[in-house]
Amino acid sequence: MNAKNKVLISGGAGYIGSHTAVELSEAGYDVVIIDNLTNSEINAIEGVRKITGKDIPFEKVDTCDINELRKVFEKYDFDTVIHFAAYKAVGESMAQPLKYYNNNLISFLNIMELMKEFDRPNILFSSSATVYGEAESLPVTEQSPRQPATSPYGNTKQMCEDILRDSCRAYPGIYGIALRYFNPIGAHPSSLIGELPRGVPNNLVPFITQTAAGIRECLSVFGNDYDTPDGTCLRDYIDIVDLAKAHVAAVRRMTSGDMQEKYEIFNIGTGKPVSVLELLTTFQEVNDIKVPHKMVDRRPGDVPAVWANTDYANHVLGWKAERTLAETLKSSWDWEKKIRKIQ
Ligand code: UD1
Repeated sequence: MNAKNKVLISGGAGYIGSHTAVELSEAGYDVVIIDNLTNSEINAIEGVRKITGKDIPFEKVDTCDINELRKVFEKYDFDTVIHFAAYKAVGESMAQPLKYYNNNLISFLNIMELMKEFDRPNILFSSSATVYGEAESLPVTEQSPRQPATSPYGNTKQMCEDILRDSCRAYPGIYGIALRYFNPIGAHPSSLIGELPRGVPNNLVPFITQTAAGIRECLSVFGNDYDTPDGTCLRDYIDIVDLAKAHVAAVRRMTSGDMQEKYEIFNIGTGKPVSVLELLTTFQEVNDIKVPHKMVDRRPGDVPAVWANTDYANHVLGWKAERTLAETLKSSWDWEKKIRKIQ
């Protein structure tokens, strides 16, 4: 197989990385995974191998160590890198900004340096809807202005987008795509991989599934006095397998020479706003389980509403979210039950 069909995935043992590894592999790409396992488990690699039936190569490598990373570039012949390896907790980034700037920026700079050194052309960066902040008009398009970041985490996403844009502009051999994810949720239908946050979850769906499993007593709904239909925040919850498939479409675009610009940005969401209460109700209905919950104050830093205009991804990538919210929330609960050994 030629280098065009080979993809290096940094952070491939993580939530989005592992699902992407599966979809790429199933689409016929040869995948190599690297991860330092600081915020992920080796079991995810086993899950990916089990689902695909392929002995996907894995190297325990810290992308912040350029010498370790160089060995991966020497050993494997790939044209495309998908860079997931990063810290992602908003609150922690406020308390420990240097940890975030160091890790998220150095790892990406190292990847970019080596792409240049080894003449590897395609880099896909995992960005976030957080770059839109509190948008002036909804839904947001890729042209909607980025707002000043409200956390070091969000700032690293913006800075990495800029590093990518400038590198694509300056180096003739480098092409980049940034995918701005909205709120990824759900798990692989096999329940062999899924989201596994360490400690108390910050995100809504893992908190719901852990409450349903009896690990947490009660879900706090952060604010029911927003200017939204039911008073709770609106988000665009994108199924993890659909999200993984967007990466396959983006890799295909890069490797087939279809890119119109050297750097392209795509929103990856469903295009549909869903409220916290609507999501909670759907979860309870589809899984036939009660989730204790209470209304509490707003969480500082939360925006009232954000959802994607996905026209550009739909038309240009030929990709569209397919799984329903109900299917996705069923997969979240199936995964939680599997890891907690609940019948
Ligand atoms: C956050 C980050 C985003 C990051 C994403 C994935 C911001 C503003 N947001 O998105 O950058 O990419 O996580 O890690 O930086 N909620 C509750 N109770 C809970 C938890 C959440 O009511 O226990 C509500 C929140 O108020 C929000 C919604 O659920 O309205 C979604 O929250 P969450 O899953 O944390 O994602 P975001 O804050 O949208």
